[in-house]
Amino acid sequence: MEIMSGGLYGLVFEDNNIAKEQRKFALKSLHEVGFGSAALEDTVHNCALEVVDRWRKSGGEEVDVTENIMKAIGNVVWNVTFGISLESDNKIVPEFRQIHLDVAPLSGGPLMMFIEMFPFIRKFDFLLGSPMKRLQALVDRSDAMIVDAIETAENNFNPDNQPTLYVEAFLREMKKNEEAGKPKGNFHFEQIRNSAATLWGAGFETTVGLLRMCCLELVNHPEVLRKLQKEVDDVIGERRIRYDDHKQLHYTCAFLQEIYRLGNVLPINFLRKTTQNTEIDGFRIASGTTVLPQFSMVHSDPKEFERPDYFCPERHIDDEGKFIKDPRITPFSIGKRACLGETLARMEIFVLFATFVQNCHFTPAGKVPPPVEFNYGFARSVKHFTVNIEPRN
Ligand code: HEM
Repeated sequence: MEIMSGGLYGLVFEDNNIAKEQRKFALKSLHEVGFGSAALEDTVHNCALEVVDRWRKSGGEEVDVTENIMKAIGNVVWNVTFGISLESDNKIVPEFRQIHLDVAPLSGGPLMMFIEMFPFIRKFDFLLGSPMKRLQALVDRSDAMIVDAIETAENNFNPDNQPTLYVEAFLREMKKNEEAGKPKGNFHFEQIRNSAATLWGAGFETTVGLLRMCCLELVNHPEVLRKLQKEVDDVIGERRIRYDDHKQLHYTCAFLQEIYRLGNVLPINFLRKTTQNTEIDGFRIASGTTVLPQFSMVHSDPKEFERPDYFCPERHIDDEGKFIKDPRITPFSIGKRACLGETLARMEIFVLFATFVQNCHFTPAGKVPPPVEFNYGFARSVKHFTVNIEPRN
């Protein structure tokens, strides 16, 4: 952890007395800079249009949907965090993603857990194939990119204006403390760097992974795609999709809830601590015990969901064709440490996905659709696949 963050900084740690203050600040400032705002929705919609525009031009070639989805989501996270709009052909998002894909097996593998438990092993790094050295090099590169983006935001920062991005809100807080002669407290550079990295780490691969899974399920279930297209055509037609449309797009919401149930995007989840003695299923758990909540245990429990492995949006539709929101499906977790980006993620996924369905027709690249199989890592995602995409209008 020392290598990854230079200490217990950032927004996710379980046993961290700064977490409460920093989470509160992040929630407030992300809300201020536009989570849930029409302006952010416009940014997301523009990214969605850019994706469909590129897909429309694929001219019958097999398409790996990852590249364009990744650029769209990367752009949104970069925008919210640093206020930087990236060109769709930018090199930052693919490079940053590759660094994080390379970091995952090094930082989360069994060897690294061993090193965390017995730090003296670090001295023998070269005998083990230098995993620490390789990890440090990747972290240094990722840090350099984050610092560069913070500096760009800082150069454009005017403390008299209302902040429009997370880093500005943080810088304003730093300045406020300085002007009032207060100690810096937790508003220092290590914290801003790590929080910005957390927003990327938590908000990028998760959202990209679920949107890729949406496209894969579409080619595996053509009858579902037809129903989705009919709903979007009937309710929206050709006008632009807004997040508020989710109230009328019942089948689309059912589809996405099924994706949230089966996606299990953070299988390892974050370590948390119980705050009081408790009992679950007859097991007594003392206050202060480290726990690792596993939502997939509920999402795939046959006692809760009939044939849990079967992809079936209809299970979330009532007899009148209305969407049934299911409180047992909690991909963003629940409680005081639930996902900070839930509002943004739900909006991004809905607006992008509904825009895809509105504008594109998805079919398998071969006669048989690609299987729904997963890669495991910190964020679980469907394995590489390609599809054919044709324009709908
Ligand atoms: C589909 C997309 C996403 C899923 C499924 C997801 C899921 C989760 C889950 C399960 C947690 C752990 C909560 C817990 O420990 O109880 C979490 C934490 C977090 N997420 Fe997300 N997330 C997503 C997108 C985002 C986005 C877009 C952002 C921000 C840009 C974000 C920021 C965070 C942060 C900062 C935390 C740590 C919260 C804390 O420790 O207090 N996430 N997320």
